[in-house]
Amino acid sequence: MQIAILNDKILPYEEVGHEYLDRGLFFGDGVYEVIRSYDGRIFALDEHIERFSASLKAIEITKVDINQVRDKIILAFAKSNIPNACIYFHITRGSGPRNHAGTDDLEPNFFLTVKELEDDTKMKTEGISVITYPDQRWKRCDIKSLNLLPNVMAKREAAKRDAFEAIFVNDEGFITEGSSSAFFAIHQKKLQTSPLSANILPSITRKFVVKAAANISLEIVDNSLTPQQAALCDELFIAVTTKDIVPVVKFDDKIIGDGNPGQYTKALAEEFRKFTIL
Ligand code: PDD
Repeated sequence: MQIAILNDKILPYEEVGHEYLDRGLFFGDGVYEVIRSYDGRIFALDEHIERFSASLKAIEITKVDINQVRDKIILAFAKSNIPNACIYFHITRGSGPRNHAGTDDLEPNFFLTVKELEDDTKMKTEGISVITYPDQRWKRCDIKSLNLLPNVMAKREAAKRDAFEAIFVNDEGFITEGSSSAFFAIHQKKLQTSPLSANILPSITRKFVVKAAANISLEIVDNSLTPQQAALCDELFIAVTTKDIVPVVKFDDKIIGDGNPGQYTKALAEEFRKFTIL
């Protein structure tokens, strides 16, 4: 008899629900997106859909109608009636007996939640602390994969050390990005961030930060920094869909600037806000 145990319940294997046999659980075999709304309007939906399509393609999940995904996002958001919402969704390759390669008959599983965004006023006005952490991830971080164990471990270490984010440093000693955010430095009126590559996620927020930077005449430099260089910069910040721009005032115990959010970071945040009310 084939058997399964779910927590404390023993049951025939055949009676295990398909959600327990999801390849997302067994292998992290799926991709995800996080979108947000500002005051009742979904922000950058096309960009997120485009990146999601690219992630699906990269891991060869082919049986997905991306227009149906878009419709589901819009429907769920409308039903939620939450003006400032965080929309999370993922697609896995499907459910089936544990087998690494999977079979052609698998039907992708879709999962989505719409939740209220947390209030981030305090962290934006006071700034956050970050730590550095070794980048132990795979070589395709441009895919928004459900495999997030290195990110989880990094974020847990940050939390233990009273920091909000962990900033990954690769084997060559350069900063790549945050465990769940893009990372930026401003020094002598230049905005610096890692160049887009397979080593980082092509952040949607980054795209708008770069536009905002051009609008306030900051020079943009695609340049990876070492932690030592970052610690000496005038200003630092992270950028992520759920919070847009968050100033960093402490970097591995080193105070950045005068310990308060910097003037250009604040100006960028203001400029960014304009994109969200269009
Ligand atoms: N994370 N880099 C990583 C590793 C990320 O996980 C994220 C976002 C970003 C920023 O990307 P964007 O600007 O498109 O949100 C950069 C999401 C929000 C998460 O995992 O919850």
